[in-house]
Amino acid sequence: MSFQSMYRERKREAADAVRLVQDGDTIVVPIAAGEPPALLHALSQQRREFRDVTVFQMLPLHQPDYFDPATTEHVRHSSPFLGAPNRRGVHEGWIDVVPAHFSEVPRLIRRGLVPSDVVFAHASPMNEDGMLAVGLSPDYTMAAIEKARTVLLEVNPRVPFAHGPCRVHISKVTAVVENDEPLIEIPPTAIGEAERAIAGYVGELVPDGATLQIGIGAIPDAVVQQLATKRDLGIHTEMFGDGILSLLEAGVATNRRKNRHPGVTIATFALGSHRLYDYLDDNPTVQMHPVDVTNDPVLAGQNDRLHSINGSLQVDLIGQCGSESLAHRPYSGTGGQFDFVRAANRSEDGRSFIVLPSTAKGGTISRIAPTLAPGTHVTTSKNDVDHVVTEYGVARLRGRTARQRAEALIAIAHPDFRAELTEAAEQLRLV
Ligand code: COA
Repeated sequence: MSFQSMYRERKREAADAVRLVQDGDTIVVPIAAGEPPALLHALSQQRREFRDVTVFQMLPLHQPDYFDPATTEHVRHSSPFLGAPNRRGVHEGWIDVVPAHFSEVPRLIRRGLVPSDVVFAHASPMNEDGMLAVGLSPDYTMAAIEKARTVLLEVNPRVPFAHGPCRVHISKVTAVVENDEPLIEIPPTAIGEAERAIAGYVGELVPDGATLQIGIGAIPDAVVQQLATKRDLGIHTEMFGDGILSLLEAGVATNRRKNRHPGVTIATFALGSHRLYDYLDDNPTVQMHPVDVTNDPVLAGQNDRLHSINGSLQVDLIGQCGSESLAHRPYSGTGGQFDFVRAANRSEDGRSFIVLPSTAKGGTISRIAPTLAPGTHVTTSKNDVDHVVTEYGVARLRGRTARQRAEALIAIAHPDFRAELTEAAEQLRLV
């Protein structure tokens, strides 16, 4: 049978495809732009017909109707990384959190610790060899597809046919659903004074020839703007966004000096503008890999001069970074922060930067705190943290004593809080 006939044979309406889900199944859905809206809409519509179905997904960007506290005995959501759509449900107790490093999620799926019975994923149209690409987010999707009984792909001509190990053969697919609605896009973030100052410090410390991992948000976006005068940067990252695209288009990032995958940009999910998604289409200079490759600290750390840049919510005086919760209440997730902190620590001449404004809530709260608020989830431990950066400077912590760390962190706290932090540090016998 030709690949075209196999494709035609698998074509369904979304409502019919979703009937392949069985009671008790776990459905794995890719991160961010990899989520397939038509399939999630159909699941939402039919949710009351199922029992005990779990949907596992990091960072959902849409708000499907199955996010509904009244129907969780039918379909319930669980997630290792929260965004605006699923945060409230976690705080109210009807959405579940799965603590995990991003790099570990494929392993959890392969070992059955996170079940994968069904996959719903966005895919590109099929090529003449019968391959479809899940190039917006191969991260844990490829492992989930390996394990799943039922693979449902939502084929959209706007999904890039990306390069790298992010392709699935039609014979592995149970059903395809076609949809050509525009992909979700993320507008550029507003960059303020503090973000610009933080980015300036980080930019000064990134050398020519560095390989970069750049996280999500305003500060990482501001850092990219500070790198315009660098030469021969390399990209080995988890998220491929418009900031990185601008470095590639300007010829600032060439990937020439990377030890692993020289000449090629490596990422595990793409999130940004339609220009970014178009850039990925049949472009052999970018490879989309599963996250257990991009975020493996040993593999990523084989690149010399690996520099990772990630945000945090609070840092205590010994350097523990609470980047994902406000006290006990989850805010986001561990994501790849710790993966890349460890990778940068292994890398020859590598550095990791934890970046955060010195205050929150209009200057009323210091984000540099004597101790983390009770219940805070520690994302980067004191033993792994390297540089912490606020708009008041850089605290280099790795290898330093507790006393030196407290002094360095107080020096980059907001001036209004330095006296009380010093007093607290004295009481804690840190200084
Ligand atoms: N006490 C009380 N509130 C605080 C606070 C603190 N110490 N720190 C931050 N907040 C509040 C902010 O005021 C803001 O509230 P608002 O939305 O009402 O204004 C909210 O918490 C979020 O803070 P903000 O600094 O705006 O977060 P962000 O959207 O820039 O995201 C992280 C930053 C830390 C959440 C994000 O970088 C993250 O999830 N990091 C961990 C995972 C990671 O690094 N992954 C790798 C890259 S994908």
